[in-house]
Order: sequence, then structure tokens, then C-alpha cells
Amino acid sequence: MQDIPKNIRLLGLESSCDETAAAVVTGAGDILSNVVLSQIEEHKPYGGVVPEIAARSHITHMDRLIRQALDEAKCDFDDLSAVAATSGPGLIGGVMVGMMTGKAIAAARDIPFMGVNHLEGHALTARMTDQIEFPYLLLLVSGGHCQILVVRGVGDYQRLGTTIDDAAGEAFDKTAKILGLGYPGGPAVEAAAKAGDETRFDLPRPLKGRAGCDFSFSGLKTAVRREVEKIGDSITQQDMYDLAASFQRALCDSILDRLGRAMALYLEQQSSGPHMLVVAGGVAANGFLKSHLKQLCARKNFNLIVPPPGLCTDNGAMIAWVGVERLRLGLVDSLDIAARARWPLDPEAPPAIGAGVKA
Ligand code: KG4
Ligand code: ZN
Repeated sequence: MQDIPKNIRLLGLESSCDETAAAVVTGAGDILSNVVLSQIEEHKPYGGVVPEIAARSHITHMDRLIRQALDEAKCDFDDLSAVAATSGPGLIGGVMVGMMTGKAIAAARDIPFMGVNHLEGHALTARMTDQIEFPYLLLLVSGGHCQILVVRGVGDYQRLGTTIDDAAGEAFDKTAKILGLGYPGGPAVEAAAKAGDETRFDLPRPLKGRAGCDFSFSGLKTAVRREVEKIGDSITQQDMYDLAASFQRALCDSILDRLGRAMALYLEQQSSGPHMLVVAGGVAANGFLKSHLKQLCARKNFNLIVPPPGLCTDNGAMIAWVGVERLRLGLVDSLDIAARARWPLDPEAPPAIGAGVKA
């Protein structure tokens, strides 16, 4: 590893899903700007992200957001030492927009380009915000992914578990749709659950007590749908609140069970501490989950690290930071690197049945 000057500036671009984002981060991990444009309103009528709309919107806004990120960081293209852009996994049209923009800037300014794995952005954020050392355990819970990984180093991951169907955020979003709570579902379900009784509906805890550390949430969502159908037209606001609370409780129970098993596996590998659990992805914003994770970590003697919400959800700073980490190791890409719809952090891990791009 080589030291890089702390005052160099990297541009990070993110466009793999429904956020267009650009950020400038220094070699020391100081975030000089972090501009994120959410496309939520554009996708709302469809209850989920529409890939074609996402890609077109990235094209429309990326240039302007880069300009804004540079202005807020009080620098210009000439001040950049490298460019990092998400090159996968994600919706391929959108990934290509950010990646091609990043390559063009790198080519025009003759500076290094790094094609970053979006998941690595989530995985390494805690090293920028909390300066933690490798290794650590990572729970990645977003709209597109639900995984538990051992983070051993840059580009060095061991996947302990992944979802075999829906991601955790996806389960929140689909359940919100069933309950008519709107999109994105996570914050809406969490708010509704606050007024609900989590013990009223006996929903399944998918895979709880089963071997391994994989997740499954599709049956839970279907169980919510069945309860709604059972109640029928007489469904009340309170029924909705109680269903939201019971769903959130069941999903958290399932995550805690899987995580408990992963912690045991991790401790078998890493006897000496301190042991860290990092949580990343949009679902990390869920206060109910966070408070239960705190209790689990206290019981198992792990330190819990949850980066601030704006750095848990998709953003350009996390991509720029991976650029910093990789630049230190001399891991620069050539400009012919291709965009990848699927790009697992642990290519050795066996594909989980039915997991698709979520593996
Ligand atoms: O990481 P993210 O911004 O985007 C990717 O999927 O990469 O995560 C978005 C997901 C959505 O599914 C959203 O419903 C969920 O995170 N989410 C939440 C909360 N806030 C966002 N889920 C549960 N509780 C929340 N408070
Ligand atoms: Zn993400």
C-alpha cells in the first residue's frame, strides 16, 4: 500500500439505481461535497423503479450534478486527481451513464479512472466515517440487496449469507404497496408501525432457526397480503398499523436470527477483537431495526457502526471513497472496463437459489 496525499480530490459518480449522485472526497476521506438527486417522484406512479425512466433521468441530470458537486467543493476539473464511477451491479442503462461520464472526464483530463463495485461503496463507507480497520462483519440491507459479508480488505469479501428471494428494502416496499402506504415503503411502514400492535398478527419469521445465514422475505410479504384479504373490505386504519408493526417485527426477528448465526461464524474465524458490525443500505435508517441491532451487539460483544443515513443510502461519496482506497493500492482501471449488471463481492460464494442479481 502506498500513501497518497491527503489533500488530493477524487470525483465519485453513482447512477446504478434511482439516485443520480456526484461527490468530491479528499485523500483523507473528507467529504467536500455530496450531491444526491432522488428520482423517487418519477417512479412513484409505478410503485417501483422503472429502468428506462431511471437511465434517461441519469442522462438528463448527471452533468449538472457534477458541476454542482465541483462548485460546492470549491474546485474544478483541473483540481481532480482521479475519477471513480459505479460500474455495477445495478440497472445497466443507468450504470453506463455514470461510468461513461466518469471515463470521459478521466480521458479528457488524463487522470486515473476506477470502475467501482457499488456494493463495495456501501461496504467501505464505515472506514471513511469511522476509520475502522479490517476485518469487520457487514450487514448490507437495501432495496436491491440483503447480504451478510466478512469484509477482509479492499476487494476481499466472504459472503456468509444473501437473500434467496426479495431484499429487505424490497420487502418493505412491497408490503407498503399491499397496505396502500405509498412508495418508498420503508419509511412509510416504519411510521405506520409506530401506531400499531406488533403482536396482533402472527406472521412467519422466514428461515428463523434454520442452518446457514441466508434470508427470505417473499413469504412474509405474502402472509401480509393474506391477512389483508382475510379482513376484506372492512379493513381499518388500525388494522393497517397493526399489520405494518407485525411485519416490521417479523422481518427484524428474521434478520436478527440470521445475523446471530453469522456473528458466531465470524467469531470462529476472528478470535481477537474488537469485533465490529457495520450496517449499510437504506434499511439501516430503520430505527426499530437499529435499536434491536444495538441490543444484539451488546449481547454478542460487537461494536455497532451505522454511518449517517445520507451515507447509508446511495451516494457519490461512498464511490469516491472506494476510489481513495483503491488508489492507495494502485488498483486503477483501464478505460475499456465494462459495466456489469451482476457483480458479486464474493465471486467464490455459491449462487443462492433464486437470488438472481441479489447474490
Ligand atoms: O440503499 P438504498 O437507498 O437504495 C438501494 O436499494 O440501493 O435503499 C433503499 C431502500 C428502499 O427499499 C427503502 O424502502 C428502504 O431502503 N428504506 C427503509 C427505510 N428507509 C429507506 N426501510 C425500512 N425503514 C426505513 N426507515
Ligand atoms: Zn445501494
